[in-house]
Amino acid sequence: MYKVLVSDPISDMGIQMLYDAADVEVVKQSGLSEDELIAIIGEYDALLVRSQTKVTEKIMTAGTKLKVIGRAGVGVDNIDLEAATKRGIIVINAPDGNTIATCELTFAMMMATARMIPQAYKKTVGGEWDRKFIGVELRNKTLGILGMGRIGSEVAKRAKVFGMEVIGYDPFLTEERAEKMGVKLGTVNEIAAQADFITVHTPLTPETRHLIGKTQFELMKPGIRIINCARGGIIDELALVEAIDQGIVAGAAFDVFEVEPPQKDHPFLNNPKVIVTPHLGASTIEAQENVAIDVSEEVLHILRNEPFKNAVNLPPVPANVLNKLQPYFRLGEKIGSVLGQIAQGAVAEIVVNYAGELIDVDTSPLTRYIVKGIFENQLESINIINAMHLAKSRGVNIVVQTSNTANDFTNLVTVTVKTKQEEKTLAGTLLAGYGERIVRIDQYPVDFAAEGNLLLISHNDKPGIIGRVGTLLGNNQVNIATMQVGRKVIGGSAIMVLTIDKTAPTDVLSELSKQDEIVNVRALTL
Ligand code: NAD
Ligand code: MLT
Repeated sequence: MYKVLVSDPISDMGIQMLYDAADVEVVKQSGLSEDELIAIIGEYDALLVRSQTKVTEKIMTAGTKLKVIGRAGVGVDNIDLEAATKRGIIVINAPDGNTIATCELTFAMMMATARMIPQAYKKTVGGEWDRKFIGVELRNKTLGILGMGRIGSEVAKRAKVFGMEVIGYDPFLTEERAEKMGVKLGTVNEIAAQADFITVHTPLTPETRHLIGKTQFELMKPGIRIINCARGGIIDELALVEAIDQGIVAGAAFDVFEVEPPQKDHPFLNNPKVIVTPHLGASTIEAQENVAIDVSEEVLHILRNEPFKNAVNLPPVPANVLNKLQPYFRLGEKIGSVLGQIAQGAVAEIVVNYAGELIDVDTSPLTRYIVKGIFENQLESINIINAMHLAKSRGVNIVVQTSNTANDFTNLVTVTVKTKQEEKTLAGTLLAGYGERIVRIDQYPVDFAAEGNLLLISHNDKPGIIGRVGTLLGNNQVNIATMQVGRKVIGGSAIMVLTIDKTAPTDVLSELSKQDEIVNVRALTL
């Protein structure tokens, strides 16, 4: 009999099938400490959690029998995925079960803030009969949605029925899909300037952190209302409070916070224009049952060695393939990550070409690393198991080719990312004694290690330009560690690749891009 530990409140109905097949222990009080879990985890084959239990590396080390961790929900930010992968523990989630619940809470919050329902309720039950709560209608208003995945798309559908105009922003939203949904595409700043309501539905990543901040609030029309039922930190909380004080934001509704639970003196808690709930997006009977059923089914499949889906970490790769490919995984991920950070627009096609010693091996695990690298800054739970599925479900065409010539390298991985706006190509090789090297960007030959903070500067090959870049960075205390210049012909277009010791401040980047002969500047972190 398998032993399963349930350490957060998960629908009893939903996990019924586990009771039938395994010895299930449900802890009475959720949020066990690391030490408490370490003390008991050793005897269990599976652990089921929601978001309260933090599943750390130490817990996994103590869980010597642990084969699977099931997350009854979407976000896996409470589980150390890398540690699980290292130990061969499969982590699965239930990404679909709470989509509607969270979408409906978003709507409830939007309407509550439009009509100030919690504020009016508070006064009425306090004995006051105040009829001065004059709200706004949703009809004919513009809703901006940042993040058009499962939840964002459902919100858009409902908003259309309410007679709202919807503008969406999502790097993976193609014009065709947007048109089908009746959604206009816009940038974050365009949405900020045009919307009457904004709701966010992205994961929290370095890219989405403070996606809405001071700059965006300054662009907004007075009277806008802001909703966050995704993850705390996507909207800059302090900048929001400032925008309320300045009369820009008329109301805000938050289900999630940068720190949960928020401190007692959090500026939202006493602000009459902000309504809050304690991370209740997924808290419906239906959603809790759905996610519990989904996760229980998957856990049983894994325990029984049956095929499973929704895994968010590493799949087993046959040993002979792994031995040959493993050294290339980091190279593939880095090539992908650079491309993902520099290619502008929704990715429509990825073309991977393997050459040299890579042509006689099944490279599909390596392709997964490349695809994961390309999307890792946008998709919270992307990993090498679900990378291909996520890319394909977003309509991305993936083409894999091989060629016999590797331009004098013993191995060469060339990847082209095609978006509506542009095509970007990167080639890399594994060089004995030097590790992973990037050897081509578009048509320019280069040679650099893709690591740390990089600046990619496209420019015209004119005397003095390198000096100006160096001086500008130096004057701003940004130290250059390495520098590479690639060009095809003297005086033509060229590329500069700089490794710098810290990220360059945004004003320095914008100063750089204003320099004569500089075409564009892209900063990336690897
Ligand atoms: P999803 O993966 O289906 O959609 C997320 C979307 O965000 C994707 O389409 C992705 O392309 C987009 N995205 C990523 N980076 C972006 C960026 N920089 N700018 C714009 N868009 C970007 O996920 P989902 O199921 O729709 O969930 C969305 C969020 O809601 C997640 O963070 C999830 O954890 C959270 N969530 C919260 C609750 C709650 O209780 N409040 C419940 C469920 C989900
Ligand atoms: C999720 O990521 O699924 C949500 O935050 C919901 C939850 O687990 O409560």
